[in-house]
Amino acid sequence: MSKQSKGIAIAVVAFAAAIGLVIWGGRIVLLAGGAHEIRYPAVVDTVPDPTIFPAQEGKVTPGLDLAALMAATPAALAQGKQLFAVNCVMCHGAAGKGDGAAAVALTPKPRDFTKAAGWTVGYTMANLYQTLTEGVKGTPMPAFDALSPTDRFAVAHYVESLGAFDHHDDVAAEVKQLDARYHLGEGPRGPNKVAVPVVMAHMAAEFRAPPPVASPPAADVSAGATLARRLVRDSARAARVLSQIPGWRTDVGAFARATAAGAPDDGFRAAVATLTPGEWKAFHDEIAKLTPAPDTGSATNRRQ
Ligand code: HEC
Repeated sequence: MSKQSKGIAIAVVAFAAAIGLVIWGGRIVLLAGGAHEIRYPAVVDTVPDPTIFPAQEGKVTPGLDLAALMAATPAALAQGKQLFAVNCVMCHGAAGKGDGAAAVALTPKPRDFTKAAGWTVGYTMANLYQTLTEGVKGTPMPAFDALSPTDRFAVAHYVESLGAFDHHDDVAAEVKQLDARYHLGEGPRGPNKVAVPVVMAHMAAEFRAPPPVASPPAADVSAGATLARRLVRDSARAARVLSQIPGWRTDVGAFARATAAGAPDDGFRAAVATLTPGEWKAFHDEIAKLTPAPDTGSATNRRQ
């Protein structure tokens, strides 16, 4: 190996070593720096968390093919006949003449499907679908909206098949009519979905930490101000802890018990334990003065 190529080889090795150092060094720094972050076990990277997904607008279930449902197929008629026997025969009669067993007691009488005269809503497929969906108000004809839209179409076809007259169906016009009234082509819309972590992030952003307990003005040499200067160890922490103690502003006892029990971790110095009742009162009144009242305009307060 020539002197020159030896030099190049050394340079290459040194360069590779340097790159390796940078990469490994970076990893070590990253790992050390990330120690306080929440580290998920590796399995979370491979198994999708069902609560994490892009925000989704309310799902529109696939629209119904109205033009197809408007066709009186043998399958639709067979299904309609079955539904008619169970749901309609007692009033409308087996042949649809409006003479079912229950008909005697009804006013007005159930419609006679074999005749073209006297229909309230009408006998086109769109009319029949409307009658089944909404019932006929002010009459014993109930709404059958518990039947699926497909079942309503099927039984409507069967009703038409019982009447040997022209039902004047205009498929294109009726599809439009049904779509406008019931949005069946679009399909019903489900609720919007937002991933749980996104909701949590919103909630976290909405939670505002209370402002820290203020320092008494330098000129204030009252007993309360002096105690506050001496006994508040961490003003932000003290404010957070106080915000969790219900009624502390008006209750010296609750204030004293909570701050003494938690000191010094609660932002107050352990020396609070040595205060006399008179000092507690002065200390309490001063802290209440130095701690801004919580925002009363928050949603929860407004609702109460
Ligand atoms: C409790 C009795 C009762 C039952 C059950 C009943 N109907 Fe009716 N139905 C009536 C009565 C009464 C009328 C007459 C309403 C009117 O005068 O407008 C009627 C009217 C109708 C009409 C005609 C509406 C119009 O435009 O005049 C249709 C179509 C109809 N029913 C279909 C059905 C079908 C299909 C079923 C079964 C899924 C059914 N009905 C079950 C009592 C009933």
